[in-house]
Amino acid sequence: MRQAGRYLPEYRELKAKHGFLKMVKTPELAAEVSLQPIRRFPIDATILFSDILVIPEALGQGYTFRDEGGIAMEYRLQTRTMIEALGPASAVPERLAYVGQALEILKRELDGKRALLGFGGSPWTLATYMVEGGSSEDFALVKALFYEDRATFDLLLGKLTESLIAYFKMQVAAGADAIQIFDSWGGIVAGPDYEAASLRWIRQIISAMPPGFPIIIYGKGTGPHLTDQAFTGARVLSVDWSNDLSVVRRNLPANVAVQGNLDPAILNTTPDIAARETRRILESMRGTTGHIFNLGHGILPQAKIPCVEALLDAVVTWK
Ligand code: CP3
Repeated sequence: MRQAGRYLPEYRELKAKHGFLKMVKTPELAAEVSLQPIRRFPIDATILFSDILVIPEALGQGYTFRDEGGIAMEYRLQTRTMIEALGPASAVPERLAYVGQALEILKRELDGKRALLGFGGSPWTLATYMVEGGSSEDFALVKALFYEDRATFDLLLGKLTESLIAYFKMQVAAGADAIQIFDSWGGIVAGPDYEAASLRWIRQIISAMPPGFPIIIYGKGTGPHLTDQAFTGARVLSVDWSNDLSVVRRNLPANVAVQGNLDPAILNTTPDIAARETRRILESMRGTTGHIFNLGHGILPQAKIPCVEALLDAVVTWK
């Protein structure tokens, strides 16, 4: 959940020097940024520093950042011809070789002491950026494609699914211990269409991974679909803060762990509040098994370091 990022001075310093995209694309820098949070905090797992948008870029649609915040893709995917021109999926592992190299460096540095997490976006979440041309408020264009021309929508999602399978297999080969799939925009789909727009493609990815390899699904706003997510073969469901975690735990099969789910905005308040709200989640899970403490979404740039420390102290000292 963005262990690295704008709330950390050492991250801001490195970014001022090199820029975001160069840090992503240079294995030594990406590894360094991944290690920054674990040098400071007692975190059990290290997440690779990268971005979900490296996949569209590897398929030929680059990305940058808007001055006012948010993502700008180089262009918008507007026609079937443009979708056919993307790719090929088979070239993705080679074009993203820098990700594999960063993971290999991290694997060596971590030396088995901490879990190493790889990740990627869900096909649906990536498609929203590609069809909308960047961050969106209403997702009108990608929804229009889904409802008006399902064959073309499926062509794009199929290509993304194939790309992600190749990409994740490369991450596993490079040493990732688990992979988290970010379905960050799964919650904007009409309930009955979540399966066709997003979940079926995630299921296809999980089926293609080595048997037993742990996959974590993070969905934002996908609370109503947690049961369906639990039957995809995912080992862990990472849930956003709008869910009551103890209720989620009670309603899911015991062979699926839950991860979450502190509201990241709480880290913008005070250490006392951060510790109190962390303990409240832990207490609500007392007596259950299969809980990985985490945030309910990515840490915000305004997060205060003493609040992050208070959160971690509350977890580490929990009895
Ligand atoms: O902890 C880590 O360092 C993990 C690395 C990580 C990043 N992005 C680095 C990053 C991960 C796991 C992501 C995932 C990601 N990227 C998602 C899914 C998770 C989520 O937040 O829902 C999405 C949707 C993206 C696309 C993306 N990248 C967005 C929307 C933004 C913010 C743009 C903005 O300015 O509002 C980014 C940039 C980004 N990716 C940052 C980091 C550390 C911040 C870059 C900066 O300004 O320094």
